[in-house]
Amino acid sequence: MDPVRNPYAPGAGQRPPELAGRGRELDVFDIVLERIARGRPERSLMLTGLRGVGKTVLLNTLRSQAINRLWGTGKIEARPDQSLRRPVAAALHMAVRELAPRHRAPDRIDAFLGVLKAFAQRSAPAGRGAAPKLRDRWQPGIDVPAASGRADSGDIEIDLVELFTDAAAVASDVGTGIALFIDEMQDVGPEDVSALCAACHELSQIGAPLIVVGAGLPHLPAVLSAAKSYSERLFRYQRIDRLDRIAADQALCAPAEREEVEYEQKALDLLYEKSGGYPYFVQAYGKATWDHAPRSPVTAADVRVAAPEAEAELAVGFFGSRFERATPAEREYMRAMATLSLVEGEASGAVRDDMDAAVPTAEIARALGRKPASLSPARDALIKKGLIYSGERGTVAFTVPHFGRYLRTQPA
Ligand SMILES: Nc1ncnc2c1ncn2[C@@H]1O[C@H](COP(=O)(O)OP(=O)(O)OP(=O)(O)O)[C@@H](O)[C@H]1O
Ligand SMILES: [Mg+2]
Repeated sequence: MDPVRNPYAPGAGQRPPELAGRGRELDVFDIVLERIARGRPERSLMLTGLRGVGKTVLLNTLRSQAINRLWGTGKIEARPDQSLRRPVAAALHMAVRELAPRHRAPDRIDAFLGVLKAFAQRSAPAGRGAAPKLRDRWQPGIDVPAASGRADSGDIEIDLVELFTDAAAVASDVGTGIALFIDEMQDVGPEDVSALCAACHELSQIGAPLIVVGAGLPHLPAVLSAAKSYSERLFRYQRIDRLDRIAADQALCAPAEREEVEYEQKALDLLYEKSGGYPYFVQAYGKATWDHAPRSPVTAADVRVAAPEAEAELAVGFFGSRFERATPAEREYMRAMATLSLVEGEASGAVRDDMDAAVPTAEIARALGRKPASLSPARDALIKKGLIYSGERGTVAFTVPHFGRYLRTQPA
């Protein structure tokens, strides 16, 4: 069928033509926004899940929801080894700029911007008289002079509490709130995570309307609770998972219907079998099938013809790009994981994709004929690269769905 009219959108953060199966999360967030704007106690959301399940897309949709309620919003994508100070400053700058036109006291906005600038310019204490590096002289694009004595102590925990409190006060003035969205939140460094939790804790106690909404890999809750034990009570964790059959069918059929295209039931059966309901795969198979199908209705035979192309594209765009980030030693480690997870899956006869099962690290060491401790560097590097995660102590699993199957097709 006409590739120009192909509605499907495989790709990182690509807005799907139909956001299927996320109604509950959207409803919950609406209530959170309403309650917080009214000064009611409410926990913020943390979305967790594997690669490609739609965390970024959902986070962007929640942001639109906040904007529709006239909240100020800003978004950050965390990176390993990067301080939060500047990204947070830039995101709050944007959030307050959204609120400013509705604020009746421009001097209050300017006062906040002065604090924001001081916060942004204050990097961590240089330590032992080190000369300020060039990057520390970074200038945020804020046209007011930096204030002093607030949010500029250099202690990120103190500074975040003060900055968030002031930002929330600006939002209170216009009767809404501020939502700060953090994607890839598992990559925020330990000191910054700890400061973020402390700031959220403080703000929720004084009923200030500022929330942090995060998204990250499945071990995000462990990252947060390692920083502050109370984080479990501070946030509401929502596991974003693959789509159930009804939602996956809707993700395919609703956009097709708008183009007057239909699917035969058997085509949908086969598409679900291939995608396992993982949103990225739903889009990838949907897209290839559309291009190959000669006409509506789409048949199972069309899906069969198109599948190799979808798989080839996934091998490059979804799996390969990640695999290439691993060193030879790390690849060896992941291959051992892939082999072991297959055995585990077959033994338990699990229907759920066996490739995504957690594997004990001790068994990986045994399979490779190595001492467990000698494999820690490879494991830690793979966790840092976001390719594997450790959900339970002593086990690891792939963050990328179906990664084990992909690895087994790769020549050693
Ligand atoms: N609810 C949904 N219904 C249909 N398609 C979806 C849905 N959510 C996401 N998608 C599609 O899935 C793909 C992956 O989405 P997204 O990039 O948000 O995943 P992610 O969880 O952020 O992945 P990563 O961990 O790699 O960042 C995109 O192509 C998107 O269009
Ligand atoms: Mg993402």
